[in-house]
Amino acid sequence: MKKIKYPAIAIGLMFLVHCKSTKTSSSETTTPSPVATFTPSPKQLEIVEKRWAGTPLGDITEGQTIFTTKCVKCHQAYEITGFSEKKWLHEIDDMSPKAKLTPEEKLKLTKHILSYREANTVAKAN
Ligand code: HEC
Repeated sequence: MKKIKYPAIAIGLMFLVHCKSTKTSSSETTTPSPVATFTPSPKQLEIVEKRWAGTPLGDITEGQTIFTTKCVKCHQAYEITGFSEKKWLHEIDDMSPKAKLTPEEKLKLTKHILSYREANTVAKAN
């Protein structure tokens, strides 16, 4: 047990030095904008309209924002096309409380994930 202490301290010191030496070159400065960059494809929107008629576009972009901000706190953003719809529904149920989503947020996330998945999986399969 005692042996572990020294490497830990050494790593701690290295980290400190590293932080100091890179302090001035921080590139992440003023405007973090997780929103606005995502635009659903026409194909995805078509699917949204078919499955949940009347859904505003904002629900889908917000779903994406939730996915890339609240769902990446504990792990990477999983590839949406990497799982079946059934698996996603199960995971969204499981993960929404972990991410402390409101029912509205959960619904937006669900619409985004399922429509994105369908739009991009079908495109790939054909
Ligand atoms: C508080 C931490 C935490 C948050 C926040 C969180 N997850 Fe997770 N997630 C986990 C853990 C831990 C696992 C692995 C164990 C498990 O399945 O419970 C996991 C597993 C997953 C998996 C399964 C991956 C696989 O290979 O089977 C998916 C998909 C997933 N999370 C999606 C999400 C989504 C979507 C959100 C946002 C609503 C989210 N997670 C938010 C902790 C979190």
